[in-house]
Amino acid sequence: ELARGGQSGDLRFTPVAPNKNDKLTIPDGYRSSVVVRWGDPVLPGAPAFDFDNQSADAQAKQFGYNCDYVTLLPMGRDRALLWVNHEYTNEALMFRGYTGGAAATEEQIKIALAAHGGSVVEIERAGAGEWKLVTRGRRRYNRRITAQTKMKFSGPAAGSDLLKTAADPAGRTPVGMLNNCSGGTTPWGTVLTAEENFDQYFVNGDKVPEAQKPYITRYTITTGTPSGSRRFDRVEERFDLAKHPQEANRFGWIVEIDPFDPDSTPIKRTALGRFKHEAANTTLARDGRLVVYMGDDSRSEYIYKFVSKNRYIPGFDRHNRTLLDEGTLYVAKFTGNSPASEIDGSGKLPSDGEFDGSGEWIPLVSGDKSYVDGMTAVEVLVYTRLAADKVGATKMDRPEDMERNPVTGAVYVALTNNTNRTAAQVDEANPRPSNKHGHILEIVERRDDAGEKTFAWSLPLVCGDPNDPTTYFAGYDKTKVSPISCPDNVAFDRDGNLWISTDGNQLGSNDGMFVMPVRGKERGHLRQFLTVPFGAETCGPLVTADQRSVFVAVQHPGETDGANPDNPSSRWPDGDQPRPSVAVVWHGQGKKIGA
Ligand code: FEO
Ligand code: CA
Ligand code: CA
Ligand code: CA
Repeated sequence: ELARGGQSGDLRFTPVAPNKNDKLTIPDGYRSSVVVRWGDPVLPGAPAFDFDNQSADAQAKQFGYNCDYVTLLPMGRDRALLWVNHEYTNEALMFRGYTGGAAATEEQIKIALAAHGGSVVEIERAGAGEWKLVTRGRRRYNRRITAQTKMKFSGPAAGSDLLKTAADPAGRTPVGMLNNCSGGTTPWGTVLTAEENFDQYFVNGDKVPEAQKPYITRYTITTGTPSGSRRFDRVEERFDLAKHPQEANRFGWIVEIDPFDPDSTPIKRTALGRFKHEAANTTLARDGRLVVYMGDDSRSEYIYKFVSKNRYIPGFDRHNRTLLDEGTLYVAKFTGNSPASEIDGSGKLPSDGEFDGSGEWIPLVSGDKSYVDGMTAVEVLVYTRLAADKVGATKMDRPEDMERNPVTGAVYVALTNNTNRTAAQVDEANPRPSNKHGHILEIVERRDDAGEKTFAWSLPLVCGDPNDPTTYFAGYDKTKVSPISCPDNVAFDRDGNLWISTDGNQLGSNDGMFVMPVRGKERGHLRQFLTVPFGAETCGPLVTADQRSVFVAVQHPGETDGANPDNPSSRWPDGDQPRPSVAVVWHGQGKKIGA
């Protein structure tokens, strides 16, 4: 069944039409249920969720807010650990009458700190494809990670001057993680979770020492105390950069967490660089070295990969857990193969019929060796964005999730959008000015070896309304595809089909999840599998290895202009205040997902 390799013809479900339903809308014949919601008890002693009687103590034991990356770690056939990122909080929907961090109660600020991070929850199979939260008996792995969990740095920048603060003069013990968006899973069963927009949690970024200001600017860290600030500094002084200017350097990392060891200390892996991290999906090079693919999700930022120095050795856990500390961090440069005159900002395909070309991975740093003029190795790791600027990497249209297809070996990147790109700034890899709808990038590493330094690339999907002449569905008949806008996360099923979830649909309907074969006659045949409730972003997503379940994180239902708990624009899933939740979808007759 694997031989078909990404050209599956057995996706037979009827696509879900674009809609603005305030519910999870799934194809005929499928069923869904909510697995776990914001506020559901995770740890022993956690109270049941009570919207009007929240407390920080309760939240620290309950499922956090805004679920994002989802991964499943099996414990036999019918039980598993579910890891979920809690990216950020929307206080305007969490608290009645909330008017901003300056006027918030200290308890509300502490609730928000506790609602960030991630959760490990035990789940159990409740049918062919349905899974439920385990709510009875011993749940030894259940865990909450928050913005206040003690962590450690490892790798070449650990203990360096740039990571030292008054509270941690050794520069080795950061506290908490923030804005964990997408992520990945290692071959040894740990979770990699990516700190994305950490810039928004600080105040007074303009009051740091003069020499530090260019770095504050390059990472768009908050200056002053704007009205939108959560004002974490009111309960924890470290978030005030006027007092602790280096605290911001301690966020923006890939964090490794061992879900099977609830007492383990999460590790910020400095060898993987510091930016507004997305993904961290792993694969192996032909020689067994570990490769980690990563994006930096802001307009005109870069695509990265890390290649370990040593090889992954199956079963040699103690060795494998050192792989993320030693290796080379690369940034991608893309070169088109069509004449620049044909990449003219019209969005029209060039005369060779494809947006495509070649590329190279430019090394930035390897251990204590910097490849970037004027920057030390530690500076490259802590201020990675500036290093990538210096080597001429290609500025991309918001690279978010990035993952290697386990069947075909090609690597896919979701480029969400970039409305800032001008006609003068288009290139073949980012060919549309004011790119509202985004595109999908396919990378084929040289000799299909993830450890190589050059690659070929193409754009199989240029998103939007199929009637828009600038859209492209790998040459497939555009009358037979679903409209798609703002691809954000990617995943694969065991047949190698590409699953895509969206964030911020600019076509006027809800976000959702799609599937597209990537090889053969069906390449480009994109179909919508589900839509999420009003105001929500579609995260996760995950097709289980047995292909009987799809997990989807419904992030920020009801997040629309002016939304508040007394008049929410979504009442999903309980008919009351909206609650970010993870749902599972399965076929009612237990058939394979997509049937
Ligand atoms: Fe958190 Fe890049 O979306
Ligand atoms: Ca071309
Ligand atoms: Ca996202
Ligand atoms: Ca993914």
